[in-house]
Amino acid sequence: MRDSLQQGLSGSLLDWYDRHAREMPWRIGPADRVAGVMPDPYRVWLSEVMLQQTTVAAVRDYFTRFTSRWPTVQTLAAAPDDQVMGEWAGLGYYARARNLLKCARAVTDEHDGTFPDTYEALLKLPGIGPYTAAAISAIAFDRPETVLDGNVERVMARFYDIHDPLPGSKPLLKDKAAALTPDTRPGDYAQAVMDLGATICTPKSPACGICPVREPCQARAAGTQPDLPRKTPKKPKPTRYGHVYIAQNNNGALLLERRPDKGLLGGMLGWPGSDWSDTPDDSPPFEADWQMLTGEVRHTFTHFHLILRIWTAPLPAESAPEGLIVLEKHAFRPGDLPTVMRKAHNLWRDR
Ligand code: ADE
Repeated sequence: MRDSLQQGLSGSLLDWYDRHAREMPWRIGPADRVAGVMPDPYRVWLSEVMLQQTTVAAVRDYFTRFTSRWPTVQTLAAAPDDQVMGEWAGLGYYARARNLLKCARAVTDEHDGTFPDTYEALLKLPGIGPYTAAAISAIAFDRPETVLDGNVERVMARFYDIHDPLPGSKPLLKDKAAALTPDTRPGDYAQAVMDLGATICTPKSPACGICPVREPCQARAAGTQPDLPRKTPKKPKPTRYGHVYIAQNNNGALLLERRPDKGLLGGMLGWPGSDWSDTPDDSPPFEADWQMLTGEVRHTFTHFHLILRIWTAPLPAESAPEGLIVLEKHAFRPGDLPTVMRKAHNLWRDR
């Protein structure tokens, strides 16, 4: 049963959201929502998957490009894989882009192009985990699901002055968030908590003076808000090493490879290269007078740092080595490469 503190909190947050909701291209603002306008579940789903990668500011452009090119889930489902991977380039974590396509195809083929409207049914779709299923069912279908992302965790840890460290405290924070979720306007409420976390209850220097829930906030009363949420220290990431080989022919064409679907950067375009390890194999893709460039490329993935050495050689005019692609100058777009491969290209271009 929700007590008066809980009702007061969701009421204060919704009042605040009515005045301060951030405008976003996929969002139906509170005034339109009250007038009965419903969000497009396709746009909500796409934005939530993108927002797991990066900030609202960075997602805007990706979102606009994706939805101009593929305005519906059916058009996305029909898109060639490499074009979707190319538009995703730069967002990172490319398994998400492959799952995005799988999900679009499942919705199109198995659900007649309509997103299911319950948490349980959404959770069965490829690439949709508990966070995304809750976000879509709350935001697109106004169901009282509990949406727990980093922003909401921080707001809950502070509101209840919880000192147990993350990630161990997640179940407790989820219980707290669930108890606060209202039955009225749950979609707007979910977005209000996220907006509060992003704009006022920020990780550093929270703006408690203008917070709509400063009065009941327990961390604010105790003065502990700058220290919350606590976090269990992460294990340091190991460093791996590798080589990449950039070869260009007299016409400006470049030698590339499509990476295997499985594994890191799966399905993305990249430079031929070695394994990434402590002792990478340094055999190039074909015999030539390979020169190592000065400098190196550094990139950090979820579980390791990578340091790449870049080698270059002229590409003979004849056919491409087995399994590799010769891309004509006009067809090569550095923006289609994943970030680590684009960094290698930049070092080579500026050599
Ligand atoms: N972060 C992730 N999803 C969001 C949303 N729907 N509103 C605000 N911030 C978000």
